[in-house]
Amino acid sequence: MQIKCSDSIKKTNIYVISINEGEKEVKSQLGNDYQKIIKDYVIKKEGFLGKYGEFYLLNNLEGEVDKILVVGLGKNLDNQKARELGAKLYQHIKNIPNNKDVVIEKINNENITISFLSGFLNASYKFDKYKTVKEEEKIKNVTILDSRLKKEVEKCKIINESLNFTKNLINEQAYEITPSKIADIANIIAKENDLEIKIYDKKELEKMNFGAFLAVARGSEQEPKLIHLAYKPKNPVKKVALIGKGITFDSGGLDIKPASSMLDMKDDMSGCACVLGVIQAVKKLNSNIEVHIISALCENMPSGKSYKPGDILTAKNGKTIEVDNTDAEGRLTLADALTYADKLGFDEIIDIATLTGACVVALGNRISGIMGTNKKMLNEIIKKGEEVGEDLWEMPIKDYMRDSLASNIADMRNTGGREAGTSVAGWFLSNFVKNKNWVHIDIAGTAHISKPYGEHSKGATGIMVRTLTNYLT
Ligand code: BES
Ligand code: MN
Ligand code: ZN
Repeated sequence: MQIKCSDSIKKTNIYVISINEGEKEVKSQLGNDYQKIIKDYVIKKEGFLGKYGEFYLLNNLEGEVDKILVVGLGKNLDNQKARELGAKLYQHIKNIPNNKDVVIEKINNENITISFLSGFLNASYKFDKYKTVKEEEKIKNVTILDSRLKKEVEKCKIINESLNFTKNLINEQAYEITPSKIADIANIIAKENDLEIKIYDKKELEKMNFGAFLAVARGSEQEPKLIHLAYKPKNPVKKVALIGKGITFDSGGLDIKPASSMLDMKDDMSGCACVLGVIQAVKKLNSNIEVHIISALCENMPSGKSYKPGDILTAKNGKTIEVDNTDAEGRLTLADALTYADKLGFDEIIDIATLTGACVVALGNRISGIMGTNKKMLNEIIKKGEEVGEDLWEMPIKDYMRDSLASNIADMRNTGGREAGTSVAGWFLSNFVKNKNWVHIDIAGTAHISKPYGEHSKGATGIMVRTLTNYLT
């Protein structure tokens, strides 16, 4: 699908005109004749009200356009409703025959038009790599009819490409997406985007004392990797590290998961996939913020070599951890990745992880958990999320949570009871960052979904690609 911006149109199959609820006539660049048809026929005779999500198709027209699709915007269309309506429009047009060229007139204002377009593009995503019979994308060209939106449309496209990249990586099977494979992909990204890259293998990680991370990796046949990519603009206004959880498959390890819980665990690298998407967008949008992404990649598998409950690990920062449950592996890999980032002295550190089932219970599938040490930064990220339709809700981290993870023989355990699981995991992570500007985002419930909603289809959502890109550009 080609997306462009223009002031004039060539022969068009579907021309999209929108109407706010209750409007009795439309202004359209198509001119008076068409405006009259919509006013006298669609609105007056056919009773089109302009309700949110109402569609009316005018067929078999003569001239430049074959069909006009009138879309109801409802009352008080905001950005979120616009995104969801853009997705509805895609679904609707998909079922109209002869839909190769779609032209969309500006909707209300620039901002709303871009939100609408981003929902439209998001809805057009499919992961059909393994379908032997593929559904062909018939829509070939989408034109936003207002060349003043060119820059914003370009930005929307870039962010959508990152979203697609992230979703593809998450939806791919774990057999394909191993730590080494992600390292290869990271190399390609670095080359294509002119980013600095360093990939550490097991030997190097051993020398650098990644004790907690390597313990998790031990049970797998796959070699662990740590990837570090950097986008470095001249004179950056600040330096931010993004750390993504990168468990390419989480079986639970020796504390093996029941079948139903293991089903989606190829998605346990969603944090990594997200930050890999974000850095590409940040670079293409020429941000003036220096952005580093770091991900400790491994599988969590049961085997004769696996780390065991009762083992005592020495993390990279020297703290000792008694393994209470091998399924709480994400916080162990993140602990060392956080320490690694902490030592490099960033202005801000953000980690993003499919960390706790407790977060799914607490917040469901449409709200991500967020917590950390800097309220201002945290609230800013929540606001940036809200702007792009990704909800975040703050979870508390309290000092007394150390009691939940108290160990008799080590500095702490990796799990405690079931209570406040998301917050306790946050408290655990806080032990590995001295940086006061640290924020942790738990996307266990939101990174992938089993029921579609709004603009999202089943499977990976690419959640936080938009939020973090918005925060970093
Ligand atoms: N990757 C899981 C968390 C998860 C659960 C992600 C559901 C997506 C959907 C994580 O590694 C995990 O297993 N967490 C355990 C921690 C427990 C042992 C304290 C959990 O939440 O059950
Ligand atoms: Mn786990
Ligand atoms: Zn996990």
